Amino acid sequence: MSHNHTTADALATWERRYAEALDGTAEARDKQPNPWLARHVPAPPAGVRQRALDLGCGAGHDTAWLLAQGFEVTAADLSANALALSLRRNSGARHVQADLLALDHVLPVPALPEDAWHLIVASLSLHYFNLEDTRKVFAAIRARLRPDGLFAFRVNAFDETGAPPDAASSWDLSTIGTDALPRQYFSEEKIHTVLEGQFVLRFLEKQTVSRYGSQKSLYEVVAVKA
Ligand SMILES: C[S@@+](CC[C@H](N)C(=O)[O-])C[C@H]1O[C@@H](n2cnc3c(N)ncnc32)[C@H](O)[C@@H]1O
Repeated sequence: MSHNHTTADALATWERRYAEALDGTAEARDKQPNPWLARHVPAPPAGVRQRALDLGCGAGHDTAWLLAQGFEVTAADLSANALALSLRRNSGARHVQADLLALDHVLPVPALPEDAWHLIVASLSLHYFNLEDTRKVFAAIRARLRPDGLFAFRVNAFDETGAPPDAASSWDLSTIGTDALPRQYFSEEKIHTVLEGQFVLRFLEKQTVSRYGSQKSLYEVVAVKA
């Protein structure tokens, strides 16, 4: 994989984090967050093969849930350590190291629409990009979704701890925080901006969830292809 400078920095940060979880010194970080997908994703009908793609799978909790529902799962992440962590609990999933900004290399767009993904999920992995790159990532996701496919994602909300005061309207990445990882914070308006013309919204809710032992403000979104 080739990375630009920003991606290389992000990769180093994520590798460090997951290395701690891999060697067991940071098990708390590895605890299962809420099974948010249960509300949105019907299990594949018996005997029907359905493919799910978990983008930015991290430690693989959503991948585990998807496997349990009977999906054939591909789990993708920038971090090799995250993939190793996910593989530990998800030996039945295919794992690929992939940059969301360069999916063509490892997860090319299927030639036939019916070979595309029934479901693409991305939990807290789509808020690391500026507007231009966010649009690229959403277009790449759209191109890999079947015509009848479902796209479910969660992103930081504008009132999350550490978000700058103008986060609801500005697309500038913020580097506030201990790890200085550039982050995007979303408002409903910003979500509409990136979905517009590409996806039709099916569900959007702002939530406060418990994560890593603290409260996190996020948007949970489900969309289908426009
Ligand atoms: C906050 S974690 C979320 C992990 C998991 N989806 C969950 O909800 O627990 C964000 C994940 O996105 C991955 N990530 C960040 N930037 C990425 C990129 N450009 N391409 C692929 N994955 C990326 C990180 O390695 C990390 O595993």
